[in-house]
Amino acid sequence: MYRSLKQTAISSLLGAALFIALPVNAAEKYGFGQTATPEQIAGWDIDIRPDGKGLPPGEGSVADGEVVYEQLCATCHGFFGEGEARWPVLAGGFGTLKDERPTKTVGSYWPYASTLYDYIRRAMPFTAPRSLTDEQTYQLTAYVLYLNEIVEDDFVLTNENLAQIEMPNKDGFFDDPRPDGHNKRCMKACDDPKTMTIQGTLSGITPVGHFIEGADAPAASHEGQEELEREKAHARKAALTGEDSSDIDDAKPVELSDKAVAGKEIFENACKVCHGSGIAGSPKLGDHEEWAPRVKQGISVLVGHAINGFSGSSGIMPPKGGRVDLSDQQVEEAVIYMVELSRVSK
Ligand code: HEC
Ligand code: HEC
Repeated sequence: MYRSLKQTAISSLLGAALFIALPVNAAEKYGFGQTATPEQIAGWDIDIRPDGKGLPPGEGSVADGEVVYEQLCATCHGFFGEGEARWPVLAGGFGTLKDERPTKTVGSYWPYASTLYDYIRRAMPFTAPRSLTDEQTYQLTAYVLYLNEIVEDDFVLTNENLAQIEMPNKDGFFDDPRPDGHNKRCMKACDDPKTMTIQGTLSGITPVGHFIEGADAPAASHEGQEELEREKAHARKAALTGEDSSDIDDAKPVELSDKAVAGKEIFENACKVCHGSGIAGSPKLGDHEEWAPRVKQGISVLVGHAINGFSGSSGIMPPKGGRVDLSDQQVEEAVIYMVELSRVSK
């Protein structure tokens, strides 16, 4: 497997290099795939530069932004950008960057307003990225700037004036003057990988899977990796509890009810961002121990919590997971799916 991994890595690197060098019709050249249409490229090419290049024409006011923000963002980021529970803080933190625990926010840290437009459009709301219109994005960008006292309450943000906004920390970013920060990128006849050595790695962070035979690292996440991760999880659990749980997790999944089957897709689209991996203190899908005490409350309590939001001892569950467009019934189906998959109830 090691050899083939390495070859795949090298051939995909080569592929990338050739593609950059010769942007010709891919289908003709390689005999597979199809050339991306201008519309497809436009859907992907959405970055916005500090000088405003890439902004769609449009505008949005602070006042309109307040309405949209309170509807779509405040459950997590707080009404004043102060951040609910442990969700990110969006405002304030000025003068804290040299503290031991700085509060990095849009206002205290970010160098360009363009990043704010770009980021909100690309990634927020957390549970439904790319769902905002261009106009809403202008409104929200204006409002987050206002929360940071960078613009006044009557301000209207437009594609014309966004690049002129001066962020408080713009001078905190500068070109790295150290000589090794200015290496030239090598595109051809580069060093032979065989002659390269890894000087240091951070476990779980530095991808070394492509280099070291048998390495167990994120970059080796190919064939067999899931199995390996599962074995490691069992071993960790066994070391802590003395119990062998390997047969429990590997048992065949339970037969799902019709409602749970209907809930699966809703879960995938609206709940998995948190419950798939258990981020932000959410009970992880399929984790029997985390779900058992919750399920004891009864399904109707769980559904109520999922619809109306719930803040327990481990975190904040936003109403409908932040997806107010879902019907109560859809949320209920997703809950049933989660409960059944956690194998604690039928
Ligand atoms: C369900 C909770 C949730 C909702 C709702 C939400 N966000 Fe976020 N937001 C997050 C999380 C989590 C992050 C950090 C993501 C990361 O670092 O990968 C974040 C990051 C951000 C950041 C970057 C903060 C920083 O300093 O790095 C901005 C700006 C932001 N959100 C704006 C918004 C706006 C505007 C909305 C409403 C349209 C919104 N968010 C809705 C959870 C949420
Ligand atoms: C932004 C992250 C996030 C998303 C998205 C999310 N949840 Fe949650 N959910 C949480 C957190 C955090 C908790 C734990 C709250 C606690 O117990 O403190 C939770 C708890 C729950 C609970 C248990 C409530 C209880 O009483 O113990 C249910 C049921 C639930 N979520 C259903 C859903 C459903 C259904 C969806 C999708 C429609 C969803 N969640 C989407 C974060 C999220």
